[in-house]
Amino acid sequence: MDERRRLDYLGAMGVDVWVPRHAKANAVERPEETAFGAPAPGQAAPSTVSPPVRAAAPEVVLNPVAPQPVESGPVELDLPDGASSPDPARMDWDALETAVSGCRACGLCETRANTVFGVGNRNADLLIIGEAPGADEDRAGEPFVGRAGRLLNRMLAAIGLAREEVYIANVLKCRPPGNRDPRPEEAKQCEAYLMRQIELLGPRAILCVGRVAAQHILQTDAPLGSLRGRWLAFRAGAIPLRVTYHPAYLLRSPAQKVKAWEDLVEVARRLREGCGEAIDQGNDKDQSD
Ligand code: URA
Repeated sequence: MDERRRLDYLGAMGVDVWVPRHAKANAVERPEETAFGAPAPGQAAPSTVSPPVRAAAPEVVLNPVAPQPVESGPVELDLPDGASSPDPARMDWDALETAVSGCRACGLCETRANTVFGVGNRNADLLIIGEAPGADEDRAGEPFVGRAGRLLNRMLAAIGLAREEVYIANVLKCRPPGNRDPRPEEAKQCEAYLMRQIELLGPRAILCVGRVAAQHILQTDAPLGSLRGRWLAFRAGAIPLRVTYHPAYLLRSPAQKVKAWEDLVEVARRLREGCGEAIDQGNDKDQSD
């Protein structure tokens, strides 16, 4: 791998790397703005992903987390006027967004300021799934707009993707008070919305950020450390899924940014090179979110 590009990627993710003086002398200066996500004025965001590629891992068919059938029936929705069908599975994007905005299927509707449907390119190749809106997202009605969101943007920029090029959604569309973990019954009520978003989007890859999103999507209690570092399959197995650390966790534990970077590079490689079988790169047993 090109050393300068590796350093650029790590720098873009906020990882400080010691660089020998002679290497620094050879390094090409990049404006910080560009390295951290926002394209320089007049410069288009990169549309193709071309991260450095690690040594080839053996390609094996793998479905290490046995996909569970989704047993939830149609969610009981208290739908607003204008929703075209009470069944999210038959809604188009706009009807789905309208249904979410008026959803009163669980108690979170009492405390939310705004629903947080999702944001981004509805034809995106990459879907990023987080846990639930926090205070900033609740105020803005948009996922990942706080500090963690800004880091997520930089992580995406590190693999050449602008936030606008991907689609970002959460397991929950409403903020749990005090940022507590989503409750199973809340996630179940919201599930049909996310499932329909995935169906409408048809992404080529899914990136789950954080333990809560990963466990919910994969229907498993396995710790995050055992889920990341390899390709998994979304439910029926059609969509390759990768798990990485939640940006909020990375803000608290910056040392883990190197592993998150490895995850992102692998996602970028998969998007760039197209399909292939799932890849098992071994286990990482640390437990963190
Ligand atoms: N954390 C999440 O998981 N999602 C958000 O939208 C914001 C923070």
